Amino acid sequence: MPTIVFASSKGGAGKTTAAIILASEFARQGAAVTLIDADPNQHSAKWALKLGCPANISLVENTNEESIIEDIEEAEAKTAFVLVDLEGTASMAVASAISRADLVITLCQGSQDDADEAAKTIKLIKRQSKLLQRPINFSVLMTRTNPAITPRTLRHIMGEFEAAGVHIFTTSLIDREAFRAMRSFGGTVNDLNPKEVSGIEKAAQNVRELAKEVIARLKEGQKQERISAHG
Ligand SMILES: Nc1ncnc2c1ncn2[C@@H]1O[C@H](COP(=O)(O)OP(=O)(O)O)[C@@H](O)[C@H]1O
Ligand SMILES: [Mg+2]
Repeated sequence: MPTIVFASSKGGAGKTTAAIILASEFARQGAAVTLIDADPNQHSAKWALKLGCPANISLVENTNEESIIEDIEEAEAKTAFVLVDLEGTASMAVASAISRADLVITLCQGSQDDADEAAKTIKLIKRQSKLLQRPINFSVLMTRTNPAITPRTLRHIMGEFEAAGVHIFTTSLIDREAFRAMRSFGGTVNDLNPKEVSGIEKAAQNVRELAKEVIARLKEGQKQERISAHG
């Protein structure tokens, strides 16, 4: 059922990586997942079409602004999770996906440019929320972080989001070779060969922690929706 949308107006922010990582993890836990690729570049579709993609991930390719709402509705009726990977612009397809989302995840790397782009995406989400007169649950996911250090810039950016009342996942996606390798070789981080790729177990743990937080955030959003619907 729930639809998780990955949005950021910036290309290269980490949407596709986060989408396929979470799709893999939900599938590993036994859930049926639909991965909708609404980016004309079709990067997540390329991964899903490689050998080793978990059998319980269904791919919907080439979704565009005309088909996106129907594609989401159909997928919601069929699978436990629907993940939508979007292009890095503020298009009609992006606005439509946001309007149907149970959770929008905005990606942000530790630079001011990324933070400014994430802030733009958050503005778009808030506009959609006003238009539809319903709360839209969203969170910022810091990505490509360094496991050893939290630079001052990153701390400053996170502090600014917090001051603005924006929810940030406690778990960030660490910059790991394993996350790049699964895009090249196909399959999930757990399928990678430890002789060829380092840090597989740490990457897998990172994904498990993130998935847990995403589920908690979805539940929190459902609770908020019930409260706003009843008064
Ligand atoms: N956590 C990460 N660790 C390592 N590489 C990453 C990570 N997140 C993204 N990348 C790399 O950064 C590039 C852009 O990421 P991608 O997920 O394709 O962004 P987007 O979909 O927003 O354009 C890709 O080459 C990807 O492999
Ligand atoms: Mg992408």
